[in-house]
Amino acid sequence: MRSASPTRRALLAGAASLIGAPRALAGAPAFGPVGPPSWVPDSLQAAAARAGLTYGAEVPHYRLALAPYRRAVARECGMLVCGTAMKMVEVLPRPGGEDFGAGDETLRFARANGQRMRGHTLIWHDALPDWVSPLLARSSAAQAEDFMRRWIGAAAGHWRGCIEAWDVVNEVLAIGEPRRPDGLRETPWLRALGPDYIDLAFRILREVDPGAAGTWNEDAVEQDVPWMEARRTLVLRRIEGMLARGVPIRRFGLQSHLTSTIPIDQGRLRRFLAELGQLGIGIEITELDFDDRAFPADIAARDRGVTDMARRFLDVVCAEPAVLNVVTWDIWDPDTWLNDHPNRKRPDGLPQRALPLDAEFRRKSLWHAFRDAFRHAPDHKARRDRLRRA
Ligand code: XIL
Repeated sequence: MRSASPTRRALLAGAASLIGAPRALAGAPAFGPVGPPSWVPDSLQAAAARAGLTYGAEVPHYRLALAPYRRAVARECGMLVCGTAMKMVEVLPRPGGEDFGAGDETLRFARANGQRMRGHTLIWHDALPDWVSPLLARSSAAQAEDFMRRWIGAAAGHWRGCIEAWDVVNEVLAIGEPRRPDGLRETPWLRALGPDYIDLAFRILREVDPGAAGTWNEDAVEQDVPWMEARRTLVLRRIEGMLARGVPIRRFGLQSHLTSTIPIDQGRLRRFLAELGQLGIGIEITELDFDDRAFPADIAARDRGVTDMARRFLDVVCAEPAVLNVVTWDIWDPDTWLNDHPNRKRPDGLPQRALPLDAEFRRKSLWHAFRDAFRHAPDHKARRDRLRRA
């Protein structure tokens, strides 16, 4: 072992006290009673629920201060997920300085409205507070494992009993030509703990909150291009291995940031979902939105392109009995993250038409495409209810 520099000693000594795991584990605070469902009969959630599906959306917690936003989310959604409030960068900005406030606020809102919540996200290479990567880089495997236990203990312990499914790991596969034969992304977690960090995180969540389903959330596995097909194969082989090792993975999440620059092959997507379902796990669509870069500026033409993609995608998704939740990444166009992303924003600078509601909270043709897909979905309610509880 390398000798400890003063900074390293301070960081490692800090690791023991930097997260209040014992306090968090002593019992989750009350987040208010679960109220009656807030969604209206004519809503995406009501249409989805008929078939045993749940419709939900990501919400930035500060948007809940905006009354029409609150009303839209309450009326349309059966499930919410925080965009950033439950990420490590928000919860552990400083060693010892936990901040659960924004997540708590969102959870209270969801409970008051009878909505369920997903947890996003426990182990990710991104959204790490800037003090954590150096800590992991300097830790032994045992110290890194201890840190992982404390972090999952703090976050999943704080919200224990309130989360339907946690994104235990997010985006673990490399994008582009993988440098490792197993296709894993090289992250501070992988460097500190080796590839077993994934299994470990699922086992820890199971100990901390056995009622929360553990989800592997992954991006770029939905569309028709050879490198995504290769990722689908990596996903299936890895999940088979995890199940054989007794790892408590219960769901796979397809982020589904769909892009207009790549086609959707319904047959390939259908086969992938069916193969996941045959492994006995649930499937979630966790961050659905439509990047309209390849479509013309004209709004009607763009909306036609986006709704066509949505129909092709949702028809397949809604027909697969293992799919439980369909969650969009926010609900109205002005807040889509796509406009801020260097590779996803439109070259002409126009705001994207990525989500079901427009800037005035009016239902767009995309909303109708979702509603129609949910309405026509085969009724797999009994199977979905069983799988949701599994
Ligand atoms: C995004 C949020 O929407 C932004 O507000 C934030 O600035 C960056 O992260 N995949 C994920 C999400 O898993 O956590 C990302 O969310 C979008 C891509």
